Amino acid sequence: MGSTRVVAVAVWCAIAMLAGFSSLSHAQLSPTFYAATCPNLFNVVFGVVFNASITDPRIGASLLRLHFHDCFVQGCDGSILLNNTATIESEQDARPNINSIRGLDVVNNIKTAVENSCPNTVSCADILAIAAQVGTVLGGGPAWAVPLGRRDSLTANRTLANENLPAPFFTLDQLKDSFAVQGLNTLDLVTLSGGHTFGRAGCSTFINRLYNFNNTGNPDPSLDLTYLAILRQICPQNATQNNLTNLDLTTPNQFDNKYYSNLQQLKGLLQSDQELFSTPAADTIPIVNMFSSSPNTFFASFVASIIKMGNIGVLTGNQGEIRRQCNFVNAESPGLATMASKDSMQKLLAQSK
Ligand code: HEM
Ligand SMILES: *[C@@H]1O[C@H](CO)[C@@H](O)[C@H](O)[C@H]1NC(C)=O
Ligand SMILES: *[C@@H]1O[C@H](CO)[C@@H](O)[C@H](O)[C@H]1NC(C)=O
Ligand SMILES: *[C@@H]1O[C@H](CO)[C@@H](O)[C@H](O)[C@H]1NC(C)=O
Ligand SMILES: *[C@@H]1O[C@H](CO)[C@@H](O)[C@H](O)[C@H]1NC(C)=O
Ligand SMILES: *[C@@H]1O[C@H](CO)[C@@H](O)[C@H](O)[C@H]1NC(C)=O
Ligand SMILES: *[C@@H]1O[C@H](CO)[C@@H](O)[C@H](O)[C@H]1NC(C)=O
Repeated sequence: MGSTRVVAVAVWCAIAMLAGFSSLSHAQLSPTFYAATCPNLFNVVFGVVFNASITDPRIGASLLRLHFHDCFVQGCDGSILLNNTATIESEQDARPNINSIRGLDVVNNIKTAVENSCPNTVSCADILAIAAQVGTVLGGGPAWAVPLGRRDSLTANRTLANENLPAPFFTLDQLKDSFAVQGLNTLDLVTLSGGHTFGRAGCSTFINRLYNFNNTGNPDPSLDLTYLAILRQICPQNATQNNLTNLDLTTPNQFDNKYYSNLQQLKGLLQSDQELFSTPAADTIPIVNMFSSSPNTFFASFVASIIKMGNIGVLTGNQGEIRRQCNFVNAESPGLATMASKDSMQKLLAQSK
């Protein structure tokens, strides 16, 4: 276990304990929502994610991204987890998600572990929010008391996933618009883009910059030439494989502020990353500079913005449901169907006696 990890775990434990006394509260969510009904929740989630991270160091990044892709489509309601059924057109098959989102199996493992200690209590949407925090912490990033009490949707919307999730070839104006639709501002955009401090991206998401940017016949001029040469090796022209590379060239698995210094050096991977620093006279440039010079400022801003993101369109109270199996609404859950048929089987048996 690396020393960063030990520190991360220690910091996380401190925060988990502090959560009980936190006065943080946004919308109708609260960090103490499950204090009485599932007091060990954070430890259970942490255990499963930590375990997964030993064999899959990328999992923390993948889980953070799942929370983001959940929240930008009908709010943070677990809709991204719903599989295709007769009534659900899964968001997992939307363009930004297909062959790209990861960690669905780990989310199911978390849910199973959580159901074992607190049955029918914790929503899948809340599990995504906690897993995003744990993933951030395991990367060496900030911990925060996660506001909880979300309920799970009865629907998903693939069309909306295609409309609302920003594309890597968006210009700064398009990125700002995409965040504004969610009630997120320019500071939130620059801050949350810092999620690209870890994780990977495939060639198809940045090859547009390497050979014929914006139909100029040349590469993106806001791409460092040494970095361009590296990326061209990973993604040859007319590439047949969607090779992966690190979103953060400098510290690929660390949740730190190096993402922002990469942008200052024209070494952002996606066009959407580099736009934040290279758009002439943009109001995002001073924010990039600030985060590049102060990791603590970035961390504090990240905590504020991700809590804000985690409040988007949440279902609370009697809305939605607590799914038993995150991939299906309860009415269509194969697990429940089995239980229901067991039930009717027993009735039949009883009648036949
Ligand atoms: C600002 C607009 C954004 C765009 C255009 C964008 C786009 C992308 C793209 C294209 C990938 C690579 C996907 C692939 O090739 O499979 C990616 C990965 C990732 N994104 Fe974003 N993203 C944005 C914002 C965010 C936000 C707000 C977060 C979280 C706070 C985030 C977290 C991540 C993470 C952690 C990964 C790596 C996932 C992994 O390795 O499994 N992104 N993003
Ligand atoms: C972690 O993994 C080990 C071995 O795969 C397993 O025995 C253990 O139960 C796992 N723990 C958790 C919390 O998932
Ligand atoms: C849900 O769909 C995914 C593919 O998107 C698949 O891997 C998974 O096995 C499905 N889950 C269940 C419980 O059927
Ligand atoms: C899905 O989102 C689209 C695009 O915003 C909207 O027109 C449609 O009504 C939504 N469908 C459902 C079932 O909510
Ligand atoms: C692409 O080119 C068009 C004009 O052909 C221009 O308006 C636009 O700003 C360019 N986009 C980028 C990202 O450079
Ligand atoms: C890529 O494909 C285009 C047309 O499909 C072709 O003109 C070009 O020579 C190819 N480039 C390489 C390096 O194979
Ligand atoms: C990436 O994929 C191409 C084919 O698209 C392959 O020729 C090349 O060796 C791969 N490069 C790396 C670094 O994996």
